[in-house]
Amino acid sequence: MKKNEPGLYVFCLFLILSMPFSIVRAQTEKPLPQLGKSPIKDVIAAMTLEEKVKLVVGNGFRMPGTRQQGPTIGQTQDKVPGAAGTTFAIPRLGIPSIVVSDGPAGLRIEPIRNHDSSKTYYATAFPVATLLASTWDTDVVKKVGVAFGSEVHEYGVDILLAPALNIHRNPLGGRNFEYYSEDPLIAGKMTCAIVNGIESNGVGTSIKHFAANNQETDRNTINTIVSERALREIYLKGFEIAVKGSQPWTVMSSYNKINGTYTSEEHDLITTILRDEWGFKGFVMTDWFGGRNPVEQMKSGNDLLMPGTPQLSQRLLDAVNHDSLDVKVLDENIAHILNVILQSPSFKNYKYSDKPDLKKDAEISRGAAEQGMVLLKNDNSALPIKRAVKIAVFGNTSYDIIAGGTGSGDVNKAYTVSLIQGLTNAGFQVDGELKNAYTQYLAAEKIKHPKKSFMQEFMNPTPPIAEMFPEKDLITSEASDADLAVFTLGRNAGEGRDRKLENDYYLSDSEKVVIKNIANAFHAKNKKLIVVLNIGGVIEIASWRDNADAILLAWQPGLEAGNAIADILSGKTDPSGKLATTFPMDYKDVPSAKNFPGKEFPEQATTGNFGFKQTPAEVTYEEGVYVGYRYYNTFNVKPAYEFGYGLSYTNFDYSDLKLSSNSFNKKLTATITIKNTGKVAGKEAVQLYISAPAKTLDKPAEELKGFAKTKLLQPGESQAISFSINADDLASFDTNKESWVAEAGSYKVKVGASSENIKQSASFTLANELTIEKDHKVLVPQTPINEMKSQQRAF
Ligand code: BGC
Repeated sequence: MKKNEPGLYVFCLFLILSMPFSIVRAQTEKPLPQLGKSPIKDVIAAMTLEEKVKLVVGNGFRMPGTRQQGPTIGQTQDKVPGAAGTTFAIPRLGIPSIVVSDGPAGLRIEPIRNHDSSKTYYATAFPVATLLASTWDTDVVKKVGVAFGSEVHEYGVDILLAPALNIHRNPLGGRNFEYYSEDPLIAGKMTCAIVNGIESNGVGTSIKHFAANNQETDRNTINTIVSERALREIYLKGFEIAVKGSQPWTVMSSYNKINGTYTSEEHDLITTILRDEWGFKGFVMTDWFGGRNPVEQMKSGNDLLMPGTPQLSQRLLDAVNHDSLDVKVLDENIAHILNVILQSPSFKNYKYSDKPDLKKDAEISRGAAEQGMVLLKNDNSALPIKRAVKIAVFGNTSYDIIAGGTGSGDVNKAYTVSLIQGLTNAGFQVDGELKNAYTQYLAAEKIKHPKKSFMQEFMNPTPPIAEMFPEKDLITSEASDADLAVFTLGRNAGEGRDRKLENDYYLSDSEKVVIKNIANAFHAKNKKLIVVLNIGGVIEIASWRDNADAILLAWQPGLEAGNAIADILSGKTDPSGKLATTFPMDYKDVPSAKNFPGKEFPEQATTGNFGFKQTPAEVTYEEGVYVGYRYYNTFNVKPAYEFGYGLSYTNFDYSDLKLSSNSFNKKLTATITIKNTGKVAGKEAVQLYISAPAKTLDKPAEELKGFAKTKLLQPGESQAISFSINADDLASFDTNKESWVAEAGSYKVKVGASSENIKQSASFTLANELTIEKDHKVLVPQTPINEMKSQQRAF
């Protein structure tokens, strides 16, 4: 002990001497600000410039199994394998990384991790957006959202990269299945419903692709030339409804340019319209590798660049250091991002289970699928099929059904119920010989095309298996043996390319012959042919529909496909879906046909990210506001099946349309009574259109301004439906005044079962012109557009 005494003495002396200094240091050095505990501005002020330029750029993603950066969409290996990206974490300031993941019809993550299939991470494939819109029922869509969001939450994802709500401008749009409708009211209302449902779980959404992203051809270079009015009324309207009605956590800008500028670099779009005019409060992210100039993207208010590369951060750092980017711009963008991170499950340290209730969600998926299938034709009550009959089931996709589209809209689901399985589950007998023939054919064809990786498939999609051509003898023997025939026709598509006319929009010659042969053989025996359409977008129907006794548009209905279709075919569920997109008689009737997908400038082609060829291109929206039914109805072009159309196994009577007043003053209410006059219970999608006076502005014949679905009405039961009509429902965008204006005059309210099948109408007057809202003069086209006008009605 004694030996140590001098040492102890020295140590005590040191402690005593150093004490005042450490007390002084503790008093002057403030603890670092922490996200959630300190004001956001203090957190930002504590960041280094290096941290700032990393926070506005995502962490990137890797090719599977490598550490190298790569273009494989959805390969962030860290927290949630298969997610599309993550943000940069700054732990010293309490800022976690958040995870973002696709996509619109179900969460797209890696289902098997580290080759260990003892634990799986499958997600529910819900029906595609085109089907959800066809429900015309925002309650059903919200319910899907609640289930969907619970999977996002339980799998450790913070923000879902969905829903997508671009407009069905042209039937060949490769991603139309991800989008809702040709009509912005439907697109906007469906988006509100699903966003509110998903976000009720405490996770975020990213409504996409903002804006006017209506084609896949040249998607990274296309310059969309469009009038201010068509933008405001058609292409921005759905986003406006969605932002105001659901305030999503984030918005994803699109790949294309609008009137010369990439959307992600367009301050007028991202800040003036989205934030200033509509009051958006969240953050904006780019689409994956979207846009060209990160400095312009920061300045436009596109807060986060995804998936992110170190080079982008470096370019931003250089720009700040060379005074071409004010660090205040970064600070503002970071504030937007942090406000969202604050709400995220990752910030709240949510202990996700990796075990969502997939069984319950499959039931919700099935229920929604049944509500959005559209009965297009049903001659002599061919449907519903009576129980216990024997069915000859034809068509590749009866056996290999398509649950949803491809690309980032795909979902890794545990199973898909085929139609053959669904019919069997529903108690029908299905013909064994035919089943064997199709099963063997499909197995042999699949061997020819081994399964490819996501990226290989993206670059070079496997062609669909050609429709099996059953010999006439086989069809004839089936016609003798079975009680009726079902033929399923399938189509698939996805991001990266638009659909083709030949063998896609139009049926192939061989498909038409197969349908005809089946129809002839079964009709000769006085038996029926039911055609099921397992498609994600519009096809041509008029030339072959006479062969079918009934046509059910089942869309791409999610993982319970076969069960849901069987429930409609059997009559267990009454079909109540209606079209939210027109099926024209022929492609040449489509108003955008001569301006789709636009023209390319191959001499200016360059090489973009990962060696992709980038060919500058432009498309001019000469049809203006005349998209979908706005065109067909105004120009009297008869479609095969009009917007709003869909049959039921029962009938509905519309009566007593009443307006609360016959002159407009701020608001009106329209009420109507719907009665089920048929023999089975059913629901009716009721639509309200308005025809506005068109003395000063050219206007569509009518526009959808309200819709509702009745409850399940029993035979004889009635329900009163009421719609409110507000001032902005009367207005059109007057470019000369940069304002939404309701013209004085007489307005007609038309309530009906479809855009053509108006059941009741009434009128009211607006005494004086109303200016509803004055907007900014922005996004003005630089070249004149020869826009369609209804005075050209030459048809
Ligand atoms: C798609 C987006 C998707 C993103 C991330 C892009 O290619 O256009 O819709 O969210 O990839 O996977």
